[in-house]
Amino acid sequence: MKRFNTIGVLTSGGDAPGMNCAVRAITRRALANGLKVKGIIGGYSGLIKNEVIDLDARAVSNIENLGGTILLTDRCDEFKTEEGMQAAIETCKKNNIDAIVAIGGDGTFRGATDLSLRGIPTIGVTGSIDNDITATDYTVGFDTAMNTALEAIDKLRDTCQSHARCNVVEVMGRDCGEIALKSGIASGAVAIAIPEVPFDEDAAIERILKAKNAGKRSMLVVVSEGVFNAEGKPYGEDLKKIIQDKTGIETKFARLAHIVRGGSPTLRDRLTASEMGSYAVDLLLDGKSDCIVAEVDGRIVSFDIKFALTVDKMYKKKLKEGALDGFTPEQIGTMEEICAFRASEIKRLYDIHLSLCE
Ligand code: F6P
Repeated sequence: MKRFNTIGVLTSGGDAPGMNCAVRAITRRALANGLKVKGIIGGYSGLIKNEVIDLDARAVSNIENLGGTILLTDRCDEFKTEEGMQAAIETCKKNNIDAIVAIGGDGTFRGATDLSLRGIPTIGVTGSIDNDITATDYTVGFDTAMNTALEAIDKLRDTCQSHARCNVVEVMGRDCGEIALKSGIASGAVAIAIPEVPFDEDAAIERILKAKNAGKRSMLVVVSEGVFNAEGKPYGEDLKKIIQDKTGIETKFARLAHIVRGGSPTLRDRLTASEMGSYAVDLLLDGKSDCIVAEVDGRIVSFDIKFALTVDKMYKKKLKEGALDGFTPEQIGTMEEICAFRASEIKRLYDIHLSLCE
């Protein structure tokens, strides 16, 4: 088995609260096992440009409570090119980096696989506010993002109640509606629109009118940024206008956008990031590579990256011809089960929302 002396750690893609706890855990777990640790600044771009710092135990002190990522991040197109990849490998050689832990989402994991294929063992830690990686029940940053959205929506409730208004609130999440769904249920939204479930606009309008007639003053509608109108534009602003026109209720629109990505991580994110970061180092020490660290049924586990990315495509109905080649029937069966479970969970929660939003 390959003996490691130095590992690199990077954060890539959209930052997520809790990433710093993962960086701390990876660094300290590695140091505790006699390894040296290098921090790569600015994600895969930093790897290409040789922007590397030494990380000792003190360098990751008192970062648990910080939002964003102290290692900075980037969405790096150059890393997808062979030239970029070779420059990254060169940086690893120059800095004696034998392995990498990459914290981020699906784009980060695709990059990790490319590094593994070129001889740098790489482990991915799931960090994204979206909770949009199908193989894992949880991605670091999701809990903080939901709570940040909830706090903002609660504030909108105060002013809606005072003025007898409706507020349509758009929240991030890319093509995953979980931030919208969960913050919407928790804030008592009268309607929630997410990409995974067809939105019944007429039923929502009817509900709002019925509630108004029953004396309800404030109406909150939560829309995921991944829901689009017929022209492919975000649906939230359309819905604001439709509600106002059809119900006569003065309706405002708020896009929470990147606010949902900032802030000090919750306990859940700090703890999960600490567990996942530690586990990532253990995997490397165990000789594993090309895996992501995931949470399933409350336990920290790992999946082969190719498996995880393929389940994700299966769930998002983006599988290309031949994508399942090389997987055994058992693996494909497991993928189908994971997708079915995730879809049923979203449906279960959406049904709860519908039964509570009268
Ligand atoms: O993936 C995290 C996320 O915040 C998504 O919710 C959102 O769609 C996207 O990143 C925004 O990306 P950017 O910060 O590059 O605008």
